[in-house]
Amino acid sequence: MPEILPTHTPALFAVAVQRAAEALRRGELVGLPTETVYGLAANALDREAVARIYALKGRPAENPIIVHVASREMARELAAEWPDLADRLASQFWPGPLTLVVRRSTSIPDVVTAGGETVGLRWPVHPLMPAVIQMTGFPLAAPSANLANQLSPTCAAHVASQFGDRLALIVDGGDCNVGIESTVVDVTRGRPVILRPGMIAGAAIEAAAFDRDIDGALSRPPVSPEGIPPVSGVLRSPGMLPRHYAPRGRLVVWSWTHESELHRRLIDAGINPEKVTVIAYRQIPLSGRLPHIQVIPDDAEAYARAIYGQLHACDAEGAEWIVVEEPPGTPDWEGIRDRLRRASTP
Ligand code: TXA
Ligand code: MG
Repeated sequence: MPEILPTHTPALFAVAVQRAAEALRRGELVGLPTETVYGLAANALDREAVARIYALKGRPAENPIIVHVASREMARELAAEWPDLADRLASQFWPGPLTLVVRRSTSIPDVVTAGGETVGLRWPVHPLMPAVIQMTGFPLAAPSANLANQLSPTCAAHVASQFGDRLALIVDGGDCNVGIESTVVDVTRGRPVILRPGMIAGAAIEAAAFDRDIDGALSRPPVSPEGIPPVSGVLRSPGMLPRHYAPRGRLVVWSWTHESELHRRLIDAGINPEKVTVIAYRQIPLSGRLPHIQVIPDDAEAYARAIYGQLHACDAEGAEWIVVEEPPGTPDWEGIRDRLRRASTP
C-alpha cells in the first residue's frame, strides 16, 4: 500500500509538504488533498511526469488536466491571455473550488492540455497544495485521484484503495470540505461559459462577471454546456461526458412521498429490495422493508461533502442498485444534480 503522510500538527504538515515536494521534483506522482476532491499530482512543466498521470489513471489522452497554482500571478504566467473576466472571477473565488479555462502559454506542455490551446487553472484553498507549489516553484497538474470512470476520492483512504502499490505517496489532508469537483468556467469567449457545474453556482459566477460595467459582451448571462458549439476532433470538456463520476452499482435518482411507493416501484421494476441501497435526506424509509438505508444531510453544502463517501461505501459493500432520493431543484444544488445525472447515465 502507499505511504500515507498525516498533517494534523504543524510539524507533520511541514514534513508532508517537504516529502511531497521531493517526490514531485523527482518526477513522481503524489496523491494530494484539495478542498474539492483529492488530486493525483505531478510537476505540470515535466511532460514525462504528466504522462505518468494518464498511464496510472487509464485516462484517455484527449482529456486535458487541470493545473494548480498558488497565486494569481502564477496563473497569469501560465496564460497567453488573461482576460478581465478571469481577473474578476479569480478575485472573487480564488483560492477556492473554481477552475478557469484560459488560453495557454507556451510553457505548458501539450500533454497537459491534450494538445488544445487552452488550459484549466485553479488555486485551491486547502493549504497543502499551495504550500507544495511554493516550495517547488512549479505548478501542479492534477486530475482527481481515481482510476478513469471511477468515483472521485474525498479522503486519503479512497485514493489508497484505488491505486494500491502503484502510487508510492499520499498526503492525508483530512476529508474534503467541498466534496465535489470544482466549477469549470471557460473565460476565453468574452462571457463566462460553465463547462462543469460545481458548488460555486452559475448565479454566483454571473454576479461576479457583472458587478463591474464593461463592454456589452459581458452583459449576457453565462451559457450552459448545451449551448457550446461542438469543436471538431477535440473533446471540449470530458467532464461533460454523459456517464462520469459513477459508482459500480446501477444508480437511479427517484422521488417518493412514502416508502411504500418506493418499495412498490422496486418490485414493479423486478429489483430485489435487499440488493438496494437507498440514499435519502427527506423521505427516509424506516420500516425495515428496505434494509440498506444511508441518510444524507439535507443542506446542499453538507450533502456535497457526504455524497462521494456514501457512493464509495456502496461500492465497497457491492451494492447492485443505488436509489438516490431526488435533490431539490434550487441553484445551490446544481453541481450535485449534475454529478447524480452523470452517475445515473447507463
Ligand atoms: O476540483 C477539481 O477540479 C479536481 C481537483 C483535484 O482540483 N480536479 C478534477 O480534475 O476534477 P479532473 O481531471 O478529474 O477533471 C477536470 C475537468 C474535466 O472535465 C476536463 O475535461 C476539464 O476539467 N478541463 C481541464 N482542462 C480543460 C480545458 N483546457 N478545457 C476544457 N476543459 C478542461
Ligand atoms: Mg475526475
